[in-house]
Amino acid sequence: MSGDTGSTEQPKIFYTKVPQTEAHDTLLLEGKVKSVYQIADESDKVYIHFHDKVTAGNGRRVDFPEGKGKTCCLISALLFEMLEGRGLRTHYIDCPSLDTLLCKKLTIIPVEVIVRNIAAGSIVKNTTITEGINISPPIVEYFLKDDEKDDPLLTHDRVRLMGIDPEPMKEVAIEVNTHLQMLFTLMGIDLVDFKLEFGYDAHGDLFLADELSPDNMRLWKKGTKERFDKDLFRKDQGDIVEAYQYILQQLRQFA
Ligand code: C5P
Repeated sequence: MSGDTGSTEQPKIFYTKVPQTEAHDTLLLEGKVKSVYQIADESDKVYIHFHDKVTAGNGRRVDFPEGKGKTCCLISALLFEMLEGRGLRTHYIDCPSLDTLLCKKLTIIPVEVIVRNIAAGSIVKNTTITEGINISPPIVEYFLKDDEKDDPLLTHDRVRLMGIDPEPMKEVAIEVNTHLQMLFTLMGIDLVDFKLEFGYDAHGDLFLADELSPDNMRLWKKGTKERFDKDLFRKDQGDIVEAYQYILQQLRQFA
């Protein structure tokens, strides 16, 4: 990152001179809450633009909370920078504006990798496991990234039969978990679970992709089930932007 804004809004993020998405950049992918643009003169890079939008139930519930896009974008930038600083390979290059990341262009692996430290969500819904129990050591699960099939749970063998080696993703996921858990512990937050996505660059090297924000992780106030994540929207229990901004403020102190 290359140049301080001096803004009170974003004290730890620096800007390059990279402009916002230009008209000649082409839309590669319109996700549920993000859009990916191919940069016109740099074929190996993309802009990821975060919208003021939240969805749940595979897009069945939608809202447009103001400030949500930039909050998720800035949290992602801080966390990717932290992980890069600890030697992990991520797609993150820069944060050229409050709601846009500049990233390496990757071929995304159609598998969502979930790490769980505390039982919540689908593991509770689909098993006899009680919400809130500690999962130690943490477990790593794989889900197919396919909205039409409702993202079903995969087995290790099914991932391999899909032609994808799950082991390198699992190793990185466990490492990410260690770093994130240490950071959130400093903030008085339990990292319950989170989702990662991965992709390959043109050389076939594996990189962490997508975003890292409370949209993709469960964050509970330590020792309680007070939520600072998308479950607030899923369960209609509060203002996600306020909760996400609290996480961003804490990260600015501790990341
Ligand atoms: O729903 P489930 O309990 O399996 O989700 C585990 C974690 O992965 C949660 O933090 C959830 O927010 C995240 N997740 C996600 N995108 C999905 C599925 C789950 O970010 N498509």
